[in-house]
Amino acid sequence: MPRHFLTGAELSPDELLALVDRAIELKADPLGSNVLDRRSVALIFEKPSTRTRVSFETGVVELGGHPLVLRRDELQLSRGESVRDTAYVLSRHVAAIGIRTGPDALVEELAEHSSVPVVNMLTAGHHPCQALADLMTLKEAFGRLEGLKLAYVGDGNNVARSLAILGSLVGVEVAVAAPPGYQLSGGVPATLTSDPDEAASGADALYADVWVSMGDEDTAAERRAALAPYRLDDALLDRAAPDAIALHCLPAHPGEEITEAVLYGPRQRIWQQAENRRHAQKALLELLVH
Ligand code: CP
Ligand code: NVA
Repeated sequence: MPRHFLTGAELSPDELLALVDRAIELKADPLGSNVLDRRSVALIFEKPSTRTRVSFETGVVELGGHPLVLRRDELQLSRGESVRDTAYVLSRHVAAIGIRTGPDALVEELAEHSSVPVVNMLTAGHHPCQALADLMTLKEAFGRLEGLKLAYVGDGNNVARSLAILGSLVGVEVAVAAPPGYQLSGGVPATLTSDPDEAASGADALYADVWVSMGDEDTAAERRAALAPYRLDDALLDRAAPDAIALHCLPAHPGEEITEAVLYGPRQRIWQQAENRRHAQKALLELLVH
């Protein structure tokens, strides 16, 4: 049975800690692993991407492999071929399959029928690859993970859910501050509040994501109105621990969920976080692909 990475809960705490340390090693020695030597990885994108596509594509090359980027309209999937048949065929050619799509059920179905590892590169419900890079960035900043507090402020979405799931595995306490109607659902291991100041109090990291995720465009105006008080700015950072850092998965909308002063300021680790996507995903592929 292949090992999949759909929500992050597939990893044990020890595996996740080791993965973060391995990612930091690979960052120092980017060509230090040849685990994909002349093998291919299929990367299916049914939604736009800058970071995920570029970090996976470059990361696979650094591991000695060949990335095969497939957009939905390039696959027979868009003309009615089943997810099952797509999984059967891809499994006979590639060492792993990454997929970015809307429904979590589609990714689960792909994994059920795939004989190679399937990696969730973002769904409506989860973004576990992002959380890997986020934990790596926290480890670089603080030298540890256990006992850290991260406050996510904004829409209780895929990114918030993955931070809560993966954070809880390694002892990072995640607090989510969201307005009524936008709070994280699904019984995830996080402290939920509607008060951003309460969430930020004493936190080691403050985290923002977009107010309008891919697929939520129809409700953009009401989201912007409801989420307006949930902005990552210097006043909120002042509520956090003195050495707290600011994180954002990107893409950012300065003036909405984060101020320009924080996005480009001295306390952000956001651009480092974006780079860490490549290193963390390389460590993940090493773990999954044999
Ligand atoms: N953070 C992230 O996943 O960015 P992209 O949508 O650009 O891949
Ligand atoms: N929550 C955002 C994350 C983008 C990387 C979305 O799903 O669009």
